[in-house]
Amino acid sequence: MAKIVRVGLLGLGTVGSGVFEHFQKGAGRPFGIELKTVAVANPKKERDVKVPKLTKDVNKILDDPEIDIVIELIGGIDPAKEYIEKALRNRKNVVTANKAVLARYAKGLFALARKQNVDLAFEASVGGGIPIIQLFRTLRGEKITKVMGILNGTTNYILTKMEEGLTFGKALNDAQKRGFAEKNHILDTGGFDARDKLAILTMLIYNTYVDPQNILCEGITKITTVDLDFANRYGEFEGGISYTVKLLAIAQKENGILHLRVHPALIRKTHPLANVTDEFNAIYFEGELAGAQLHTGRGAGKNATTSAVFSDILRVANNIRRGTPGFLPTLDAKVSFGNADTLIRPGYLRMDLLNEPGSGAEMFGIFAKHKLNVRNSIERHKYSYQYRRKEFVPDITNIDAASEKVIKEAIFDLKKSKRVRGKPMFIRFED
Ligand code: HSE
Repeated sequence: MAKIVRVGLLGLGTVGSGVFEHFQKGAGRPFGIELKTVAVANPKKERDVKVPKLTKDVNKILDDPEIDIVIELIGGIDPAKEYIEKALRNRKNVVTANKAVLARYAKGLFALARKQNVDLAFEASVGGGIPIIQLFRTLRGEKITKVMGILNGTTNYILTKMEEGLTFGKALNDAQKRGFAEKNHILDTGGFDARDKLAILTMLIYNTYVDPQNILCEGITKITTVDLDFANRYGEFEGGISYTVKLLAIAQKENGILHLRVHPALIRKTHPLANVTDEFNAIYFEGELAGAQLHTGRGAGKNATTSAVFSDILRVANNIRRGTPGFLPTLDAKVSFGNADTLIRPGYLRMDLLNEPGSGAEMFGIFAKHKLNVRNSIERHKYSYQYRRKEFVPDITNIDAASEKVIKEAIFDLKKSKRVRGKPMFIRFED
């Protein structure tokens, strides 16, 4: 008879309650796994799930010699990081969905897990129900030159619904109700959640640590229906092909330099990532031997994430019985990271222009000053509006590939112009 593996669960939010319900339905039984204790910050809080003997005392899990695996589903850095560390120090295996903690502290935590000869499993931290972590562990002998991912379900859901005509606010509200969004939605909409996930994937693929704060990161908060409408109708203006806007997380190796970035991007409607809608995530990558692959599935939400957590629990239980923890990268490979300013991409600049003679000339003058080559420019009068008794009209100007540094300098000058309202938005094209 195989050893019964006992688990303790920290947190009963969307994912925590999904995992609890899964155990309640008997999912652990065929595998000899028992959920012993559940701890939450506030046991008195009204919940949909009814948990007998809910405790507030995390040490009833962290110090319980019978518990083999601690499942950390609290989210956020404090106190989750402290609990993960304590569990590892107590020689307990840890399963976590915590991308924020991993993106920042993986190096120390991996070293601690290795020293204690226990597992630290984190399948649910990236890609929800898609086994992305397992995939890249398996492919660690591959040379991967390019990764393009849709790694945040909330923003993908919002962009999909905005294309269908919903406002940003309504779409965000729906995503929150469906349990996709983080407690602080800026983590999703600001691109930070996707950035942390890109950092985790980079660790696995390139066996190196990257500080998420050093990754170029722009969210979707400034994407408007003007952008989505323009992308959709882009073929009418050039090339006959429609585009869509997606929040992409990209790792690209060129001449030995690794560029990492998260930003909204225009992609052709025929691109494999363009059909990834709602809360779905996807990861496209190019491997030297494996070639190009695309993996897609639900990236957020209770069931998909529970699936990932449960797959980790099974793997870790198996490792406990074999007496050997799973592989964790050492994160010590030397990798040269590219400076975001040197990145060269084509894109468009959208700005609200004063609808008076001379505004276009001023805008073109600024483009010329920064040696930006204009491909075409269109004013979308359908979206013009009054501000302080003046009319403003959104203008979209396509420019040939230019460096981020030059774009930033041009935006700085455009923003200073009295004929431009607010800050111009740059959206890059990606293939
Ligand atoms: N807030 C995250 C998302 C949850 O929307 O993708 C899954 O990590």
